[in-house]
Amino acid sequence: MKKTIALLPGDGIGKEVVDVTVEVLKTVAEHFHHQFHFEYGLIGGEAIDQKGNPLPEETITMCKNADAIILGAVGGPKWDQNPVHQRPERGLLALRKELDLYANLRPIHTFESLIDSSPLKKEYVNGVDFVIVRELTGGLYFGKPSERVDYQGEEAVVDTLFYKRQEIERILVTAFEIASQRRKHVTSVDKANVLESSRVWREVAEEVAARYPEVTLEHMLVDNAAMQIIRSPRQFDVVVTENMFGDILSDEASVITGSLGMLSSASLSSTGLHLYEPVHGSAPDIAGENRANPIATILSAAMMLRQSFGLEEEAKAIEKAVDNVLNSGARTADLAPYGNPMSTTRMAEEIKHALADDHAILNIMEAYS
Ligand code: IPM
Ligand code: MG
Repeated sequence: MKKTIALLPGDGIGKEVVDVTVEVLKTVAEHFHHQFHFEYGLIGGEAIDQKGNPLPEETITMCKNADAIILGAVGGPKWDQNPVHQRPERGLLALRKELDLYANLRPIHTFESLIDSSPLKKEYVNGVDFVIVRELTGGLYFGKPSERVDYQGEEAVVDTLFYKRQEIERILVTAFEIASQRRKHVTSVDKANVLESSRVWREVAEEVAARYPEVTLEHMLVDNAAMQIIRSPRQFDVVVTENMFGDILSDEASVITGSLGMLSSASLSSTGLHLYEPVHGSAPDIAGENRANPIATILSAAMMLRQSFGLEEEAKAIEKAVDNVLNSGARTADLAPYGNPMSTTRMAEEIKHALADDHAILNIMEAYS
């Protein structure tokens, strides 16, 4: 299979984790006889520095010509004081909007060998397996007005939570579709006791649920959901929620896996051109130190192989290699704060070896079958 992958490493550890993910993908290409062509583009702080724009036009064009996109992370203290249109995050938000990447899937599951890395008790995190479906192109992130205002002579500020009914509907449909392939339970998270947008969200959720009789729907208030994710995370199968709630709950849920450095994500679009990125940010405190955990990005690449290219076996091979390496005790600093941590590049090397070894064994088995 021949595919073009747009790479947007971005800022901070983004570059380090994308670089090693490319190496892993090259190993996959070699073993499974595919041709992956990689194109690099600028986004975020680096794009501001080089082009004066967090999302240069050429980056958008490059992405649109690719089969899938892998992004590292954007942001850093260097640009914190910039005006809003010159902030790195604007690049990512504008890209999500431009490509209509409306459905952000964030799988949360326990990695058996990391059970002790979670600050939560074993019996709570054991066997957790759910996916957060976060709406990604609406809500508070994009509503207008979003500005400082003069309110009757006083300094004031406004952000707007705006959704078209159709935007709510399509994310709920995505959630129900996913649930129907899983354990057939949707938890729709909102704040319907306070927000009108949430009351409409509930209405739409009920309408969509009626089309999926085999899937059960439960509504949950976001404050309660924040508690339930820690208290009894096994109850969840598919959690669907608006943009800001999803942002907050997914960082919280990462604690179950042991580290934010483990969480992968796929942002699906209406056009079929999808973007894959780790849930974590640019981690400026460890940038350039070869200390970041690359697994979130490597697992995002596995999601890409499965979702965008239909390469199930290849995706599984990466996931299995990651499991094997973790089982062997390999840990980056986020997972071994008191131990002897592995570097980013070393962790990726281990994963590549595990991939290659496994493949070698498979070939031997095939030869004798
Ligand atoms: C995420 C990040 C982004 C978001 C930031 C970098 C704009 O936190 O993808 O979760 O808030 O969506
Ligand atoms: Mg976030």
